[in-house]
Amino acid sequence: MTTPLTPGEHVGSVDLGGETVHWNLGDSQSYGQYLRLDLLLAAQRPLTTEHNEMLFIVVHQVSELWMRLLRHELAAVIDCVRRDDLDASFKMFSRIDHVQGQLVAVWDVLSTMTPFDYSAFRNALGRSSGFQSMQYRLIEFQLGNKNAELIKVHQGDGQAYAELERALRAPSLYDEVLRLLSRRGREVPAASMSRDFSQPYEASKQVTAAWLSVYLNAEKDWDLYELAEHLMDVDHRFQTWRFQHMKTVERIIGYKPGTGGTAGVSYLAKALRLRLFPELWEARNSM
Ligand code: HEM
Repeated sequence: MTTPLTPGEHVGSVDLGGETVHWNLGDSQSYGQYLRLDLLLAAQRPLTTEHNEMLFIVVHQVSELWMRLLRHELAAVIDCVRRDDLDASFKMFSRIDHVQGQLVAVWDVLSTMTPFDYSAFRNALGRSSGFQSMQYRLIEFQLGNKNAELIKVHQGDGQAYAELERALRAPSLYDEVLRLLSRRGREVPAASMSRDFSQPYEASKQVTAAWLSVYLNAEKDWDLYELAEHLMDVDHRFQTWRFQHMKTVERIIGYKPGTGGTAGVSYLAKALRLRLFPELWEARNSM
């Protein structure tokens, strides 16, 4: 039981008396072994002696770890939608929302780096850039933002390239959602459902009308209405990530080109126009 501190009382260290701590782990694995902390904490290898390079590495690695979880949760959500199990998907959508929040939050940490801090180690990066993040492309493909050209940068890594190609050709979350809408009696053009999934999705008026009917009949099809709003959350958060990335980059490198070979901020600005679930935005013009 916790007793409140009395006025003037000071606790200098935790009293372990009465705790049955496993000081000896016996045959059991330890915390560090289970989490492979030997690998994880050996993976920060700055190429310079610059103090701020560690921040740069850790922020990227933390982002990649959150992306790892995002891919895992998105794969499960896609599976749920395919099986018409929306209730189970909603729990994962909530988690996805928080994970995306963590991805957005890293920009505040990175923004403590000034242009001089960054330029002190920038040359050591060579041509490496987030543009080559395989997980980022896999997530874009899971969500339906298909652009076959982008995987070319992975052609030197056969395994990564094959995985990206598979993801490119697979139906995305939105493709599965459209099939679900059709199963639930909404009019979705056949061409939107069985198509070459490696190609960018093209919005259609019928799908906008289908979403409108979901919003207008929310009482009847509450789960579809909830699904629509979860998709909006994902799209909105993704946009926020892109925007914060662009503004952080602008703050740190101005309008200089990126290490990946693009013009930098002006390239990142183009992606701000992307919409993962276009008809959900379009439908809002008629609500
Ligand atoms: C000082 C910090 C950063 C700078 C200056 C920066 C700069 C850039 C630039 C200029 C690009 C465009 C491609 C290029 O020419 O390089 C880019 C792309 C990208 N960056 Fe960053 N970035 C930073 C931090 C991060 C972090 C922490 C992540 C998290 C993983 C990240 C992920 C990405 C991704 C995924 C792309 C590809 C975006 C797309 O193609 O739509 N970046 N970055």
